[in-house]
Amino acid sequence: TDLKHIRNFSIVAHIDHGKSTLADRLIQSTNTVADRDMKEQLLDSMDIERERGITIKANTVRIDYQAKDGETYVLNLIDTPGHVDFAYEVSRSMRAVEGSLLVVDSTQGVEAQTLANVYQAIEADHEIVPVLNKIDLPASDCDRVAEQIEDVIGIDSTDAVQVSAKSGIGIEDTLEAIVTRLPAPTGDRDAPLKAMLVDSWYDAYLGVVVLVRIMDGTLRKGQRITMMQTGANYPVDRIGVFRPEMAQVDELGPGEIGFITASIKQVRDTKVGDTITTEKKGAEEPLEGFKPSQPVVFCGLFPVDSAEFEDLRGAIEKLALNDASFSYEMETSAALGFGFRCGFLGLLHLEVIRDRIEREYNIELITTAPSVIYHVYMKGKDNEPGEMIELHNPADMPDLSKVDHLEEPRIKATIMVPDEYLGDVLKLCQDRRGIQEDLTYAGSRAMAVYDLPLNEVVFDFYDRLKSVTKGYASFDYQMTGYREDTLVKMSILVNEEPVDALSVMVHRDRAELRGRAMCEKLKDLIPRHMFKIPIQAAIGGKVIARETLAALRKDVTAKCYGGDMTRKKKLLEKQKAGKKKMRQFGKVDIPQEAFISALKMD
Ligand code: GTP
Repeated sequence: TDLKHIRNFSIVAHIDHGKSTLADRLIQSTNTVADRDMKEQLLDSMDIERERGITIKANTVRIDYQAKDGETYVLNLIDTPGHVDFAYEVSRSMRAVEGSLLVVDSTQGVEAQTLANVYQAIEADHEIVPVLNKIDLPASDCDRVAEQIEDVIGIDSTDAVQVSAKSGIGIEDTLEAIVTRLPAPTGDRDAPLKAMLVDSWYDAYLGVVVLVRIMDGTLRKGQRITMMQTGANYPVDRIGVFRPEMAQVDELGPGEIGFITASIKQVRDTKVGDTITTEKKGAEEPLEGFKPSQPVVFCGLFPVDSAEFEDLRGAIEKLALNDASFSYEMETSAALGFGFRCGFLGLLHLEVIRDRIEREYNIELITTAPSVIYHVYMKGKDNEPGEMIELHNPADMPDLSKVDHLEEPRIKATIMVPDEYLGDVLKLCQDRRGIQEDLTYAGSRAMAVYDLPLNEVVFDFYDRLKSVTKGYASFDYQMTGYREDTLVKMSILVNEEPVDALSVMVHRDRAELRGRAMCEKLKDLIPRHMFKIPIQAAIGGKVIARETLAALRKDVTAKCYGGDMTRKKKLLEKQKAGKKKMRQFGKVDIPQEAFISALKMD
């Protein structure tokens, strides 16, 4: 295909504003997929995505469209995920296309993720076409939302396309806007090959599949290619495009988007953002790389039943094969035995992986408190600054006497909320050590920008925000850097024994509050035993909070008067089942859920 007849684009939107529905409609109306094969949310391929209604892997589809000018165009859509945890995937796919449809729900207006995603599109120099969706609904107000897009984002919205992705209104207009308003790609067919590695994943039949965007040159079957960053060479087995099922082609030229397979063993061997060129007469300079996706949240995953450790290892290795942004290493905990310390892009990523292990591999897990990466600066000799250690696990915190100072990661959070909930949101941010940077209004919604410690956000901030605003707030964040603060490691002792999996890093000023809250929670979560159990929070050797769980007085079966044996048996079975979900620490059984619940602050 010649460049003039190609349009590459993505769709950016806040979650639930209708991105997937619109993509489905574009695919359907161009007969890319026969009606009988059309299923909803075609691009959300994984079941778990479908269930949760979120798009995780960037997907792509090639659409042939005969435009009103009589010409046939190739439209390549790269679908981008909408959730904050996957912002990095948004930025990588943005670099592979020239334009974006900005979908805004015309009954709702601009939200935090609308802003975050559209800024990425602007940063990638995209031409942007605003699309107002859900005009079939009575609450739709296109004029107001168009004005808001101009005010808040600064994009001309006079020619915004009005659509109902659900009932199929305005789909033709959208396709025409893509052809007439988005630019064609540029590139040189005769130059050495430069292809951008946009994404890669593991396919059970094909092995590693690599999504590429050709910038210059031509990619052909049988060519030997080099990954410029890693230096690895492979012969190309297959080349193809997504319609949206995989269809093989002989070559891909400049401006085109498609996939290749080569005998690549694992996803880890393909670095997103790498430049692919030919082994012979290849390009000299690679393309400007992407920001690599770094895990920012870490937690321990341990099997409830320690006999399942090897099964867990197998599950984690398989999942990592298909997800280069998920990292893991073995961890041993005095309390929990063998497990893995895993790194995730955010909490949603963590939840998705944990769910998959439990569901697809049938392994019950204990998840320890999520932690961010702290920078620990050690004391050097003779007042010289010492080395910096990245701390991924509070349990590894070095002895305080050897530590000079600590730094924690900070974020810039953008929260959009209707006026009436603003007070509660500001209080929440304040409670989480936030510093207000900006507060502006657009219509009856406020936009608050806060500088917050990531540590205060990773755990339950989003849940709390949703609950104090009855679900009306939207939230997005970006990492900004590290800053020094007075942070300490707080340990929890149950029956005088420290439980390493419960230690957390906290701000010194909040330690008492957090310690007390955790001890109270644990007192409710741990079942009574035949003896009294002290539960304590401590910093260094110093106890800062304490609760006591009273001893159990009676045998649970006592109230059965000895006569009713079936009832007695049932009770004992119930107890046994309950036991399975517990882990023993010294003489105390702690239920699995305690590790997460103890940290929630309400
Ligand atoms: P994620 O994939 O989770 O990021 O969400 P999304 O932005 O892709 O939204 P999705 O397409 O899943 O749509 C969200 C909800 O809005 C679904 O229940 C759709 O059926 C509904 N919806 C989408 N477009 C329209 C529309 O034009 N009119 C109406 N009434 N509902 C729509």
